[in-house]
Amino acid sequence: MSGAPVLSVRELSRHYATGGGMVRALDGVSLDVAAGELVGVFGPSGSGKSTFLMLAGLLENPTSGEVWLAGERVSHAGADLDALRETRRKRIGFVFQKANLIPFLSAVENVALSLELADVAPADARAHGRRLLATLDLAHRADNLPAKLSGGEQQRVAVARALANAPPLILADEPTAALDSVRGRQVMEIFRRIAGTRGAAVLVITHDPRSTDLFDRIVHFEDGRMVPD
Ligand SMILES: Nc1ncnc2c1ncn2[C@@H]1O[C@H](COP(=O)(O)OP(=O)(O)OP(=O)(O)O)[C@@H](O)[C@H]1O
Ligand SMILES: [Mg+2]
Repeated sequence: MSGAPVLSVRELSRHYATGGGMVRALDGVSLDVAAGELVGVFGPSGSGKSTFLMLAGLLENPTSGEVWLAGERVSHAGADLDALRETRRKRIGFVFQKANLIPFLSAVENVALSLELADVAPADARAHGRRLLATLDLAHRADNLPAKLSGGEQQRVAVARALANAPPLILADEPTAALDSVRGRQVMEIFRRIAGTRGAAVLVITHDPRSTDLFDRIVHFEDGRMVPD
């Protein structure tokens, strides 16, 4: 592959027409994230961080602008999001504030599911799921249902699920917001490790200033725009 960034967002905007006028949720944001890079996204509530993640993750279309993955344009104003489902599944791992695990599946089954959706044989998917959980210090919890896990453990399972297909891009929206500072730090250190050892491009939205030392780069959002530090 060329030296193109894993994620390249160009002049991305998302405007909403509301009763009170036009809301510029995102207003011309450009950002590249390279393989192995951990980027932190900070900014006040309502500044457009989640909107940015939804667009960069191909979950919503922009009003204007483009999203490129590894040198290929994948999203723009008229893109067909349904047609991008495979791209999302294979190339992007998502982690949100809530783990959103499937309650009647064990930890390892939750991780294996995303592999089975990508046509991996169930036995292989489970074996890989166990290995992944072990790397996140969850081997002893692999067969538990989510309700038997602590919040931090559930969130680590969600991280394992996001990593299952070894996506080159990981997008996380306040993944530690529901965790105490120790658990939150652990999850952030996992993202640091994923970028460092797997060479994934990782973008994490967070409000937590205690994690700033882990990032390669930090960007700030304000009123739908990226502002200088
Ligand atoms: N569907 C929508 N219709 C109208 N306005 C919207 C819509 N979705 C988001 N917005 C507005 O866009 C702006 C950006 O929202 P966004 O959720 O991206 O902010 P955020 O930075 O993630 O905030 P937080 O830190 O609270 O999660 C906000 O003013 C929000 O009200
Ligand atoms: Mg948000």
